Formats: sequence, structure tokens, C-alpha cells
Amino acid sequence: MKVHAAEIVISAVSKKQYPKSALAEVALAGRSNVGKSSFINTLIDRKKLARTSSKPGRTQTINFYLIENKFHFVDLPGYGYAKVSKQERAKWGEMIDEYFANRKQLQAVVSLIDMRHDPSEGDIQMYDFLKYYNFPVIVVATKADKAAKNKREQQISRIKEILDFDENDRFVVFSTVTKEGKEEAWKAIEEFI
Ligand code: GTP
Ligand code: MG
Repeated sequence: MKVHAAEIVISAVSKKQYPKSALAEVALAGRSNVGKSSFINTLIDRKKLARTSSKPGRTQTINFYLIENKFHFVDLPGYGYAKVSKQERAKWGEMIDEYFANRKQLQAVVSLIDMRHDPSEGDIQMYDFLKYYNFPVIVVATKADKAAKNKREQQISRIKEILDFDENDRFVVFSTVTKEGKEEAWKAIEEFI
């Protein structure tokens, strides 16, 4: 999809603030710093619409982006950042649960995983959670530009094996640097919007 119009609608911390719109939503989940915000920017060809940072924990609200007046990307706060307090972690859990439990507009979840490493405990829990509640999942293995080329196939297999990946879900190898996987990611997303 070629995107001409994209804007932030709201940074929400509770469901009262979610957009009233009935448009379809595609949410981005993944650990802090995996590249959720960068993924959105790459797909819509904007450098900075979704705020990114080399410091983990940048996105701490649920950010709704309206794309082409057609659907919303929903940038969720990341998990697994070691330096957050117990309180902050609990707040993250409540925010995420509130979103997943109430959002009829949610059509699919892009679950981002760092291609260079084995999936973390948090990645496994997130994938299990999404499968348990029957959300369609698009797994995006990101930072592919930094992954060793000769170990690629092996690493993809490992990630799938550790996640107990459901072959009915989509799996896209992606990089914001080389733009590898951009078209494939759009194709997967377009099935749900
Ligand atoms: P939080 O908002 O903290 O949860 O992080 P996030 O998942 O939104 O990550 P973000 O998009 O802010 O990216 C984190 C860092 O990773 C930034 O420095 C990005 O430039 C970098 N990054 C993201 N995607 C890629 C990629 O595909 N390749 C490389 N080399 N760097 C990437
Ligand atoms: Mg972010």
C-alpha cells in the first residue's frame, strides 16, 4: 500500500480515550526496542510519525495512527525492559489487557521479534496469549540487516520452534534499514483491513 495520509489520533492510557471510530485496527506488540514504532514509519514511508528511540521504553502509551482514513495502526508499549519498576510493569499489564479485552476493532496483531536472538520469555508469553485468544498474528522477525546472513534459515527455524509457531500465521523477515519484507508485511496486513 502506498500511504499518502497518516496522522496520530491519540496517545491513550485508558479505554475512555480510544478512538470512537469503528475502523479496523492492526496492533503492534513486542519487547521494548524491538522496532515497533520504526516498523510503522517504514510501512507508511515517514521517518518520524511514530516516535522511535535507541533507549528502550520510549512508547508508554497506546498510540493510535490513522492510515489513509482506512484503518488504525495501534502502537502498544513494549514489554521486557528490565529497568522498569514493579508498579510500571503492573500498569503495562492493565493497559494491554484493557485493550485486548475490549477492542472489537482489532483484526490482527503484528508480533515483532528480534531476528538476531532467540525469542524471549516475554515474546513466548505474548504469542501464547494471542493464540489463546485466537487473534490472527503476523510474526515479524525484525532487524534482519543485523542478523548473520549464513545463519538466517537456521535462526528462522529456531524462532518458529521456540514460539511453537502456527504455520497458519504469517511470518515476515523484515528490516527498516534495507526495507526487506515491507511489501510482504503490507500484503499480510491488507488481508485484515
Ligand atoms: P519502544 O517504544 O521502547 O517499545 O521501542 P520500539 O519497539 O518502538 O522500537 P523503536 O522503533 O523505537 O526502535 C528501537 C531502535 O531500534 C531504534 O534505534 C531503531 O532505529 C532501531 N531499529 C528498529 N528497527 C530496526 C531494523 O530493522 N534494523 C536496525 N538495524 N535497527 C532497527
Ligand atoms: Mg515505540
